[in-house]
Amino acid sequence: MVKKKFYITTPIYYANASIHLGGAYTTIAADVLARWHKLLGEEVFFLTGTDEHGQKIQETAEKEGVKPKEFVDKIANEFKDAFKMLNISNDNFVRTTDKIHEEEVKKILQELYDKKIIYKGYYEAYYCVGCEQYLNETDLVDGKCPLHKREPELRKEESYLFKLSSFQDKLLKLIKTGKYCILPEARRKEVIDFIEGGLKDISISRLKKKVYWGIELPFDKEHTCFVWVDAFWNYLTGLIEKKKFDKFWPANVQLMAKDIIRVHATIWPALLLATENKLPETLFVHGYFTIDGQKMSKSLGNVISPIYLTEKYGAESVRYYLMRNIPFGQDGDVSEKALIERHNNELANKLGNLISRVSTLAEKYGIEKCENKLIQKLKLKEIENLMNNFELDKALNEIFAFIDACNEYVQNKKPWETQDKKVLYELCDSIKAIGILLWPFIPNVSEKLTKQFGFKITLKEIEKPLKVSKIKKEEILFRKIG
Ligand code: MSP
Repeated sequence: MVKKKFYITTPIYYANASIHLGGAYTTIAADVLARWHKLLGEEVFFLTGTDEHGQKIQETAEKEGVKPKEFVDKIANEFKDAFKMLNISNDNFVRTTDKIHEEEVKKILQELYDKKIIYKGYYEAYYCVGCEQYLNETDLVDGKCPLHKREPELRKEESYLFKLSSFQDKLLKLIKTGKYCILPEARRKEVIDFIEGGLKDISISRLKKKVYWGIELPFDKEHTCFVWVDAFWNYLTGLIEKKKFDKFWPANVQLMAKDIIRVHATIWPALLLATENKLPETLFVHGYFTIDGQKMSKSLGNVISPIYLTEKYGAESVRYYLMRNIPFGQDGDVSEKALIERHNNELANKLGNLISRVSTLAEKYGIEKCENKLIQKLKLKEIENLMNNFELDKALNEIFAFIDACNEYVQNKKPWETQDKKVLYELCDSIKAIGILLWPFIPNVSEKLTKQFGFKITLKEIEKPLKVSKIKKEEILFRKIG
């Protein structure tokens, strides 16, 4: 049977500063979804990467006194290392300075120019370098960009424009009919309002003498390509590079936060329509998190480094905390204190203790196959629905409700007194289900459990009774943070 395919992407992160927790969050969530679809038996492609061109990066490199390429090389490596540390299973990592990416972008620019969807003109508007986006006057607060707290530049320059306005009706129809699905619903409404307010043609080039750090337009060497147009194309080039385009395009899910939804729901699908490419199925917008109620952003300088957290607490705890603590799709607040609490109470006390007690007793008394009645307490269908519905935190709640049920079972049945091998079998078989369901979230721990209890990581395996084997107590999974 041909496997269903699943293609998921994250935004590609600006290589103007080291990775911060926001980017790690999206990438962890994408990794959870990618692994979940692997559990479902699908063939998965998962793409992430770095956005390396544009004025912001050019300016940052200049300030540091290094060449932009040297600068982005360093940052891209930091991102790659951080994703390795966090156990991210991406299938490719696009850098927009990759040769193949630049060539593909030039091809589409030429195609759009030949089709007269790109034309020469003038463009005048407020531009925030922090956002690398034009802002409407109505977006400004006290004349400043509300996110970056700086005054935008009023720009009027010779420029090539993309006929975004001509896609307005088509886009509205696709979004309203759900053919281009935007989730959650509130974001879909926001996008519809935004488009109904009118889409203007947008500038897609910069004068090279001002922004030299970009892809040169193939039909005019005086101009470089607007960083967003260049960046969007990563979602295709990441597949093309691996010769997987025909198999995986269009994307099934594109994850991002609300900061970049407008461009992703307008310019991006319009570019795809203009080049006769299929549109992605679902664009899912997760929440934005704050630190002490303040927006976390590189430009504001209040970022928490995911590398710092991972070195201190381990990838599993960081992944778990972020996925459990913030309702997926809603805004949330992040703190180290809350991470420690969840690590201690949930991972060490609930999960860790269950594994440790059961494996100690199973090693001592052995296990005997029987029907697992305890597993009836596992709401498997509900967990599947929640995962398929992007309710990752709620799925974790359900998995942990089952862990609680298992701990109660140990307490009530007292196998250390009864030496009941059947009760211990039920518990080991239940740990198998827990290990499988937690794999998307804390893969290292699940993989340790597969060896300790003898099972494979697929969803189907939950229904198969655990094979009886000699179970050994292993090292403690989570040490409490004191
Ligand atoms: N380079 C563009 C995206 C181009 S995609 C074709 C960009 N980069 S970014 O580095 O600013 O990353 C923005 C994304 O990082 C957000 O959409 C979100 O996925 C993630 N986050 C950044 N800060 C965040 C929070 N404070 N909270 C949650 N996610 C955040 O925009």
